[in-house]
Amino acid sequence: MAKINRNYLSLPGSYLFSRIGEKIRCFQEQHPEADIIRLGIGDVTQPIAPAIISTLHDAVDEMGDAETFHGYAPDLGYEFLRSAIAQKDYRERNCDISAEEIFISDGAKCDCGNIQEIFSTDNRIAVCDPVYPVYVDSNVMAGRCGKYDPQTGRFANVIYMPCTKENGYVPQLPEEVPDLIYLCFPNNPTGAVMKKDKLQEWVDYAVYHGSVILYDAAYEAYISEAEIPHSIYECEGARKCAIEFRSFSKTAGFTGLRLGFTVVPKELEAEGTALWPLWARRHGTKYNGAPYIIQRAGEAVYSAEGRRQVLSQVAYYMENAKIIYSSLRSAGYEVSGGVNAPYIWLRTPGRMTSWEFFDYLLEEAGVVGTPGSGFGPSGEHYFRLTAFGDRKRTIEAVERIGRL
Ligand code: MLT
Repeated sequence: MAKINRNYLSLPGSYLFSRIGEKIRCFQEQHPEADIIRLGIGDVTQPIAPAIISTLHDAVDEMGDAETFHGYAPDLGYEFLRSAIAQKDYRERNCDISAEEIFISDGAKCDCGNIQEIFSTDNRIAVCDPVYPVYVDSNVMAGRCGKYDPQTGRFANVIYMPCTKENGYVPQLPEEVPDLIYLCFPNNPTGAVMKKDKLQEWVDYAVYHGSVILYDAAYEAYISEAEIPHSIYECEGARKCAIEFRSFSKTAGFTGLRLGFTVVPKELEAEGTALWPLWARRHGTKYNGAPYIIQRAGEAVYSAEGRRQVLSQVAYYMENAKIIYSSLRSAGYEVSGGVNAPYIWLRTPGRMTSWEFFDYLLEEAGVVGTPGSGFGPSGEHYFRLTAFGDRKRTIEAVERIGRL
């Protein structure tokens, strides 16, 4: 008789953004006339930049010609893209990362969820609280998190590192030493950043204890302040303790195209075993590579024109962030984030819970955001708005909120 993976039964409710999607669908069914503005899931709204579109067209044409047709992509990604990434994202920032250490995939979400497979199930994980739910949920599925306590909203075997207003939404080094440490900076959901000296402390801590840092840098393109590191490999020793995830979704609007990559340095080891061959083995066995045309599109992001165009999209979203931040502040909300990240983190008014505020905003203003408690217990009484909306709709959304 077939048996299920019972770890799935430990997951409370549905995936956060699926639950939100379902709530919107129900609301829209009951109020077909409602004009809903979605600032919930961090999905981009600007079209793909022209330089990338033109490359996509060319790549599609190549696929229609026997001379230039491409079948299966190389396991770990096309050389042209891996080299562009190594040069532009790393060497130009003085990070010692080679093309060989870059694994191309169809997005950072999958890689963040899959990476835990190469580690034993008895590793203890540490996560920020609030946190992007994929890190915890994927470890629950693997059976690494223990029992869920609905009272505290916590799993017994997870080390939660509260990120609160008091610590500037940046976690303290945990007393109980974790084996795997998930960090995401610029942070989703709070929009907070970690300065280089602080990140260096984490790297030193991980090297000292033999822990591995799983560093999600999906939002690095949104950094506007000079002293904030774009990559963990800007820190000394990070090659010995860190894996980094990057995404083209937020950098270049690829949420619908799907492209990302993971960096696993050759000298990174656990228990004396290199992790690079393990991740390469997993990739080779379970993945057939991101499509050729999408990898060509990714390469175009690094061309001079592509670069200029995607940077102007990032600037557009960051102007939205500024608008949301200042409008909510003027309306009396306590707000943070939005300076080096496309997320604005606000405190719910009048002690409303995060989900109460979600319903209130949807019903009274027709605006959708993301309840902070969906990211973890320390997110309770907070709420996230994304800057990825269209400008006019973003302005309209904050005006509606201001009128409440
Ligand atoms: C978010 O809204 O947190 C992200 O868009 C979700 C994701 O990147 O998977």
